[in-house]
Amino acid sequence: MKIGVFDSGLGGLAIAGAIMRRLPQYDYLYLGDTKRVPYGGRSQETIHEFTSQALTYLFSHDCQLIILACNTASAESLRKSQQEYLPRHYPDRRVLGVIIPTAEAACEGGGSENIGVLATASTVESGAYLRELKRQNADAEVSQVAAPLLVPLLENQGRKYLAPVLEDYIKPLLEHGVNKIVLGCTHYCLLKEDIREMTTVKVISQDEVVPAKLADYLSRHPEIESQLSRRGSREYHVTDITNGYQQLAREMSGEAIELIKVVLT
Ligand code: DGL
Repeated sequence: MKIGVFDSGLGGLAIAGAIMRRLPQYDYLYLGDTKRVPYGGRSQETIHEFTSQALTYLFSHDCQLIILACNTASAESLRKSQQEYLPRHYPDRRVLGVIIPTAEAACEGGGSENIGVLATASTVESGAYLRELKRQNADAEVSQVAAPLLVPLLENQGRKYLAPVLEDYIKPLLEHGVNKIVLGCTHYCLLKEDIREMTTVKVISQDEVVPAKLADYLSRHPEIESQLSRRGSREYHVTDITNGYQQLAREMSGEAIELIKVVLT
């Protein structure tokens, strides 16, 4: 059986690619809901509805374990998926999100932390990062900034407009004295070096964190790992294809990949 990786669109390819490089032996099925991206400004109800459809698709295509690479889906749907969807539909399979491993990585080392989070509006409003960071380190100070313009800029060849927008989003975090910035959105992996150039604080980027956490999870869960097939195959399914998406997929994953259009029900 495969490892499924779900994202609202193609940003998750940055995280999926990093996972595949760290754990190349397994078979992967990536699903990007390009027809309905972005999820970041939608309601919790809608995000959970879309995520449940994605889970059904990936589980019915032989996935044993699904990673919600999408922070917005992780924030708004993971808990409900684990507590309601899985027991009802696929009790022997697993869904993992990216917020808990990211929060763990941000709090490693303990001590007094002042952590800033950049994320979509839905993720910020959900309070998921606040909750998880506090769970890891009750003394941590956490401030969040919603950065709704970053995804559209990255998706529309808007890099040349990025600098002032990014500075504006990061400024309140730096004024708040953060010593770490968590990039709480798939797409922001592409901005990690830009942000590192702009500040001296530690930048936590999910492509650098999630693969090792998944490897650790699999080593602690042989009942799941033993179900995974090892042919090293990769498939990339999306709910809409345009020339722009093909180009974005190349940019996000760093290589030419074949996108296949599918329908979610
Ligand atoms: N994948 C989303 C996330 O990580 C960003 C794009 C969207 O808003 O759907 O939050």
